[in-house]
Amino acid sequence: MLMTGASRGIGWHAAVAMLAANPGLRMFVTDRTGGLAESLRDRSGNQQVYGVRTDLASLDSVRAAADHVMRRARVTSFVGNAGLQVTSGARCSADGYEVTFAVNVLANHLLLRLLGDQLRRAVITASDTHFGDFRHNLGLAPAPVWRPPAELARPDGPHTSVAGRTAYSTSKLAVIYLVHEWARRLDNTEVYSWNPGFVPGTGLTRDAGPIVRFTAARVLPLLTLTPLSVSPRTAGRHLAQVATGPAVAPSGSYVNLGQAERSSDASYDPQREGELFEAAQALTAT
Ligand SMILES: NC(=O)c1ccc[n+]([C@@H]2O[C@H](COP(=O)([O-])OP(=O)(O)OC[C@H]3O[C@@H](n4cnc5c(N)ncnc54)[C@H](OP(=O)(O)O)[C@@H]3O)[C@@H](O)[C@H]2O)c1
Repeated sequence: MLMTGASRGIGWHAAVAMLAANPGLRMFVTDRTGGLAESLRDRSGNQQVYGVRTDLASLDSVRAAADHVMRRARVTSFVGNAGLQVTSGARCSADGYEVTFAVNVLANHLLLRLLGDQLRRAVITASDTHFGDFRHNLGLAPAPVWRPPAELARPDGPHTSVAGRTAYSTSKLAVIYLVHEWARRLDNTEVYSWNPGFVPGTGLTRDAGPIVRFTAARVLPLLTLTPLSVSPRTAGRHLAQVATGPAVAPSGSYVNLGQAERSSDASYDPQREGELFEAAQALTAT
């Protein structure tokens, strides 16, 4: 398995759960800072974890990571869990793209493109912020604003919190489009988008101002005592099950925690799916 986003939050718990429950699993984890594989070995007891220095905001780095892994193993599963939300400052990736789109969409696309033929299962973390309604986002995230993909990739919008959070929910709608398109194209691979629900207490809001960070770290985790949200550990256990358990649904499905559900009406749009796929192919070409 190749997994992104295992260093903290939901992904950390998912990786530990998968490694502990599957002693035969060999896992490569992308790691921006180093030391992740060692930590996962210690925590899970599984020694077959290998770190790959990768910044997913750089397509060269993503290509190098895929190359590194494919020279060492046949990768049959991919978990694209890394994601970010930028609410302050400039949002430009190493390649000059809007960084939310680069990490949440293009890096996943490029890894699927490079690994595709080998894969038997791929799970990409989406978000129910893609619905854009109060029931799904509790008023905490703006609705997605879809635009032609080449525009979504441009980093020149306003550098406001609302623009950054809109880029986030839009990127998660894009993830669902991509999963639909990849599911059509990969005959032998189960491709899922996976929604963790609302999971306070992770690092996702770390770019926000001090009040939001305090609320996210100290107040919102209380919601895990209600049905409105789940803890990072519970979400991680679900992700582990979707990635390594029996197939939960037909390829292309949107899996909400552990169960396939219908994503938003707007997320079923073959024309946008095709356009996004073609744009992502062009934007990730060497
Ligand atoms: N928390 C929620 O309520 C919620 C709800 C719906 C969906 N999600 C999604 O769930 C996934 C996990 O998020 P989380 O809540 O667990 O947040 P988190 O604690 O911030 O974890 C995000 C992960 O993505 C990695 N990442 C971000 N940018 C990267 C980059 N440029 N290169 C390499 N790795 C990068 C982080 O690595 P570093 O440690 O190196 O930063 C970290 O491992 C994300 O896709 C997020 O959008 C979360």
